Amino acid sequence: MDMKVSNLERHWLPFTNNREFKREPRMFVRASGMHYFTPSDRKVLDGSAGLFTSAAGHCRPEIAAAVARQLETLDFTPSFQRSHPGAFELADGVAGLTPEGLDHVFFCNSGSEAVDTAMKIALAYHLARKEGQRNYFVSRERAYHGVNIGGTALSGMVRNREVFGALMPGILHLRHTLLPENRLTRGMGAKGAELADDLTRFVNLVGEKRIAAVFVEPIAGSTGVIVPPRGYLERLREICTRYGILLVFDEVICGFGRTGEPFAAESFGVTPDLITMAKALTNGAQPMGAVAVQGDIYRTIVEAAPEGTPEFFHGYTYSAHPAACAAGLATLEIYRKEQLFARARELSGYFLEQMFSLSDLPAVADVRGFGLLAGIEVRAGKAAGVRGQELQAKLYDRGLHVKTTGDVAIMAPAFIASRADIDAMTQMLREAIAEF
Ligand SMILES: Cc1ncc(COP(=O)(O)O)c(C=O)c1O
Repeated sequence: MDMKVSNLERHWLPFTNNREFKREPRMFVRASGMHYFTPSDRKVLDGSAGLFTSAAGHCRPEIAAAVARQLETLDFTPSFQRSHPGAFELADGVAGLTPEGLDHVFFCNSGSEAVDTAMKIALAYHLARKEGQRNYFVSRERAYHGVNIGGTALSGMVRNREVFGALMPGILHLRHTLLPENRLTRGMGAKGAELADDLTRFVNLVGEKRIAAVFVEPIAGSTGVIVPPRGYLERLREICTRYGILLVFDEVICGFGRTGEPFAAESFGVTPDLITMAKALTNGAQPMGAVAVQGDIYRTIVEAAPEGTPEFFHGYTYSAHPAACAAGLATLEIYRKEQLFARARELSGYFLEQMFSLSDLPAVADVRGFGLLAGIEVRAGKAAGVRGQELQAKLYDRGLHVKTTGDVAIMAPAFIASRADIDAMTQMLREAIAEF
């Protein structure tokens, strides 16, 4: 064990093998730029920008100062019937980055809350248009949409569904798009656009006016990086438009430059009706999520409600928390000033080249990637997921932090990474994978 903590028992860690962690806790006590530091001051290179959060690098003093200033000036405002200027400024800042038309922003505190909020917006919108019978939702196999009730129901990852998946009925899952034909393809695969036609089958199955919205991650992240096949998102868009179904891009991982543009919607040239986001919105320095909404959807809901009452019965005590807004504003300013999305775009070619160079290792089953996001899948060992855990531990011991899901290492460096950082990541990955 790296550090003396009086009692490791009481903190129940999320999505963690608690028994193993408590036998061998792997903790960080500080961070700076591209690195974490362990309690014994060992430097660990961050290959996943925290949890896809810290795109501008860790412990940015501008963000810390903005949050401290905010907490000393106005620590909290009730979020219902009251607000504060930072909330409006941040909504402006976000709307300045989203595709044209998605110009209203609803704040919450996490990606999971953003997803459940977007589901409620979809239901409220259809009810306001007198199509309240639209209460089916569509998502996709292998999707991850957070852990609240709605997002869990949308989830297409079996371990997230098997205990809780029955909580909410009325969810249909498109087939996933991870096809063997696209194995080791850099960027978008050539095969699989027709998988979007599953949506037409669902329309035929449940009725033309029964589906409220389709949720997809433009690049499915948490399941191990599945880049959409060419033409797939366009086809989904087309079918949604044809049948009056809202298209929601869950950009909790893809948003804020990860694909080289502010949002993946722009990288892939497809405009959804809503975008959910979180993580890099505040560089991970404060918990915050948001939903960007087409102006028409906002107006339809607001104008259908009688004057003198709230129009949308939803919100959180901490919606648009002043400290989170301060962190968000400081983060967007860093992205702008340092042109970090353009930097991500420029670095992407080199990054993907390095990641794909690992495909010569016998233990590598697949490599996938787009922008500054890549999945390196190792061949499963005795049981699926065990090798992924082992790989994560080996990398941590070598000095590299990565997020793994199943047997996939998910690489998502901060946009401030240098080529030397990418080289160091590649080298550590090569050495650790070669041991299998
Ligand atoms: C696409 C997507 N949606 C939702 C979430 C949930 O976000 P949070 O953990 O902030 O609730 C995640 C988290 O990784 C995600 O990747």
